[in-house]
Amino acid sequence: MAGIFITFEGIDGCGKTTQLGMLAALLAAHSIPHLITREPGGTLVGNKIREIILDPTHNKLSSKTELLLYAADRAQHVFEELKPSLEKGEIILCDRYTDATIAYQAYGRKLPVKLINQLNLIATDGLAPDLTLLFDLPVEEAEKRMSNPNSLRSKDRLEQEQRDFHQRVRQAYLALAEKFPDRFRTISALGTSQEIFYQVSQVVIPKIKSLYPSLNNYVFC
Ligand SMILES: Nc1ncnc2c1ncn2[C@@H]1O[C@H](COP(=O)(O)OP(=O)(O)O)[C@@H](O)[C@H]1O
Ligand SMILES: [Mg+2]
Repeated sequence: MAGIFITFEGIDGCGKTTQLGMLAALLAAHSIPHLITREPGGTLVGNKIREIILDPTHNKLSSKTELLLYAADRAQHVFEELKPSLEKGEIILCDRYTDATIAYQAYGRKLPVKLINQLNLIATDGLAPDLTLLFDLPVEEAEKRMSNPNSLRSKDRLEQEQRDFHQRVRQAYLALAEKFPDRFRTISALGTSQEIFYQVSQVVIPKIKSLYPSLNNYVFC
């Protein structure tokens, strides 16, 4: 039995982890087998790679090295977690996947998109998500959600650069959603978590109902 592979995408602070947690709770409440995972860091090896990528003392890490580390993390993740989970018929909830690498590395860091597509293909063995939820949110709103309320100072140059970077990432995600309309569902991430989750459930439940009929009586609220 083949499971269903769902990825959660969008800029930092758009609410991916929050919504993934809410969906996982719903699946658990209906005893539906699922895997909660993320990139980078979905495996033991991947967690070590994640530490290398995120360590602020690694300030000489080149964009290409970073890209290859993401690819290595993904190859291990597909091999060790994603494929076996799908073979077991589970619903995979994955926080970021290949689209994030295209949005961040190609459009954020301006690496060649062709190179990234090739690397993604090598790392995934062609495993694409069945459904990608894109949580779309203005960059300023995402910043507000993540900002420390005690630091209400003006933006310095670096922070402005960061804002431009995240703008490019947001636009790249929207372009990907247009390019792959069968797989992507774009959800406005404005509003309360509950309001956004209503939209998530409206997209996800019909997709997994055929596999897990215990959801047939699910009441949207
Ligand atoms: N709908 C929402 N409205 C306001 N704040 C939210 C909402 N969803 C999440 N948050 C808060 O915004 C921050 C970022 O959310 P998170 O789910 O971690 O985003 P991501 O995983 O996309 O970076 C967290 O502090 C979270 O509690
Ligand atoms: Mg998150």
